[in-house]
Amino acid sequence: MPRPLVSSSTLLALLGPPPARGRADWLAARLASLAAEGRLAPGARIPSERELAQGLGLSRGTVVRGLDAARDRGILAARRGSGRTVRGPSAAGPVEALTARAAPLAPGAVDLRATVLPPHPRLAAEAAEVAAHLTEDPAWGSAPADGIAALVEQICAHYARRGLPTSPRQVVVTTGAVSALHLALLATTGTGDRVGTENPGYPNSARVITTGRRRVVPIDVLPDHAGAIADAVGSGALAAAILTPDFHNPTGALVGGEARLHLLRAAARTGTPLIIDETLVGMNWRGAAMPPPVAGGGARTLLVGSLSKSLWAGLRIGWVRTSEEDADALAHLRLGVDLGAPLFEQQLAARLLAAGRADGADGVPHCREHIERSYTAVTSQLAEKLPHWRWRPPAGGLSLWAEGTRLEARDLVARAARSGIALSPGALFSPTGAGWSHAVRLPFSGREDELRRAMEVLAELDR
Ligand SMILES: Cc1ncc(COP(=O)(O)O)c(C=O)c1O
Repeated sequence: MPRPLVSSSTLLALLGPPPARGRADWLAARLASLAAEGRLAPGARIPSERELAQGLGLSRGTVVRGLDAARDRGILAARRGSGRTVRGPSAAGPVEALTARAAPLAPGAVDLRATVLPPHPRLAAEAAEVAAHLTEDPAWGSAPADGIAALVEQICAHYARRGLPTSPRQVVVTTGAVSALHLALLATTGTGDRVGTENPGYPNSARVITTGRRRVVPIDVLPDHAGAIADAVGSGALAAAILTPDFHNPTGALVGGEARLHLLRAAARTGTPLIIDETLVGMNWRGAAMPPPVAGGGARTLLVGSLSKSLWAGLRIGWVRTSEEDADALAHLRLGVDLGAPLFEQQLAARLLAAGRADGADGVPHCREHIERSYTAVTSQLAEKLPHWRWRPPAGGLSLWAEGTRLEARDLVARAARSGIALSPGALFSPTGAGWSHAVRLPFSGREDELRRAMEVLAELDR
């Protein structure tokens, strides 16, 4: 059967004008974005190299290189006699098509798809100190897989300051929070088990569940976040839950102290392990009264921490804090994954944490003013130019959740991408990839001027 053709004029309009340089890469990246946005039907034949070269005003060689690169990324099928066709969706499912890998960033674009903060101001100085003493290590760089003592000590001190006494045996250092979530899931559940997580929620929590071959159960947290998680855990129908009660991503909600006790009681009663992602716990830039960690009350809890927000996204250092018994199991399991986080980064993290404590910076981001300015940039534009978007001021954290877009969120995202603004549509934050067709997450971790520009583009598109 002949495959439908994307007409040359349609594809040229979708692609937009090529940039002055890096045009083969641009062509591949644009095709990837369009495929991810569902604008190129799987199986459709795309115009010939000659037609594209003519229409785009590029040499045929450049077009061939761009199309070959798109083929290498899995966007186009290999060339056969009938020309090139768009590949079908990958087996990974609809949400995967929305990720950075499937839709690479165009050069010069503002990236609102992640919440990344400026590094801690002492990063370079402390890294230089660590580097200067590296070769003095009598163990020649070998270290326990579950974390070096200096870092574990800092992590224990962090919990002690938050009112949760913790011994070194209760901590396992990991390569970032996501690997900690993965280990915690492996330690508490079995293949095929039902594991709850928030909807909307952090996309990688759902991914950890599904790649671990557990069944993801969405917990609808809007409008009553605390009530929804307590009900889901209290139902007894979950083998475990991955939850983000501290400045939830994407809504910025903070679950209060009373609600935490209620949740812990429900978890203890039903025997449901709670995997608590505390990655954002330090993002208390609004100065909320912080409730204690979700632990105690007879519940089995595994607290997951990360330094990606509080110190530097490049560190890739996280941990699990749990009972000694569970920590032993995690330490054993991790040997089947890797043999520890890199030593240099662990030493650097330990030094930065010690420095942060001396500065009295525990629980408040080092770049509070930056976040405040960025938040104001986003919310002032929302109030002025997008009054039909519904959102609630977050208690803290690094993003807000906006509903009520006039355009379908995927369409809005696709159009924004053409104007150099990379954004995630609401569906990405659904654990099943379904729903949130008129919602977007707006992070306010980035640069103020870029955020203003991004908001102007969004306001113009969704008038
Ligand atoms: C809730 C949540 N958990 C985990 C992460 C990622 O943590 P890490 O970089 O330590 O893997 C993020 C990053 O945005 C996040 O928002």
